[in-house]
Amino acid sequence: MSFVQAKDLTREYDLSDPFIVRTIAMRPKRILTAVDNVSFSIEKGTTYALVGESGSGKSTIAKMAVGLLKPTSGSLLVDGKNLNDPFLPKEEKLALRRRIQMVFQSPYASLNPRWKVGDIIAEPIKAFRLINDHASQINRVHELLEQVGLSTSDVNKFPHEFSGGQRQRISIARALSSEPEIIICDEPTSALDVSVQAQVLNLLKSLQKEYSLTYLFITHDLAVVSTMANKIGVLNQGKLVEEQTPENLFSNPKKAYTKMLLNSAPNINF
Ligand SMILES: Nc1ncnc2c1ncn2[C@@H]1O[C@H](COP(=O)(O)OP(=O)(O)O)[C@@H](O)[C@H]1O
Ligand SMILES: [Mg+2]
Repeated sequence: MSFVQAKDLTREYDLSDPFIVRTIAMRPKRILTAVDNVSFSIEKGTTYALVGESGSGKSTIAKMAVGLLKPTSGSLLVDGKNLNDPFLPKEEKLALRRRIQMVFQSPYASLNPRWKVGDIIAEPIKAFRLINDHASQINRVHELLEQVGLSTSDVNKFPHEFSGGQRQRISIARALSSEPEIIICDEPTSALDVSVQAQVLNLLKSLQKEYSLTYLFITHDLAVVSTMANKIGVLNQGKLVEEQTPENLFSNPKKAYTKMLLNSAPNINF
């Protein structure tokens, strides 16, 4: 069995007017199926990329994959355990959460601006009780900062003192701090300049190698996944329409939608 398995994952949003309004105006319910029966699997230590235009359901899948959002139906299994199993004991749920972390598109929005970088990175270490004494926690934070290419003296700074690329490094250090096995990256470089993008992608790649990390890498940018992914899934309006290795996807796209995506990304050097 694969390390991560999404099985018939479906998520609906109820966009209906309030019941009373609907009743008076005799309007039907409006349900949006943001993610529609999506299945995929990810082998340990590899990267699965989900690509698709804005609104295709990528972030909804990301949120379900970290347990921030419950699927309407279907399931997400990590190492054989169902993330949304209501009977999973609390400790096991917490243990599972520790193993899956997320890096968001906008590090500025996901990093608390009033917290020092050291505290931001230390929080998961404390929350998951990985290290209990203060001195060792600080050492660990220093180690993490160095791993992502920042300096130990950055612990006392605030997020706004950093550039976009550095802030994304802080997010990555925070994600790493719980010693995860899976990292969900939701458009992690979309807010960055192209030159900085490459540096952050290289960092993610070298961390993957070092820690055998498994990535679910979400992006609307095909140029980015061509260098990152072992397998690519193409999402269109909530449905997974095609799944291929990067080589095959770029040389021989099967679906018209994929061709359209490829044509709108002219700068791919594959
Ligand atoms: N909380 C929500 N309530 C209602 N609709 C939502 C919500 N979140 C996302 N959607 C809708 O679900 C669809 C998929 O959104 P999303 O997963 O954010 O796509 P993507 O990340 O690919 O841009 C979009 O049509 C979006 O408007
Ligand atoms: Mg999104």
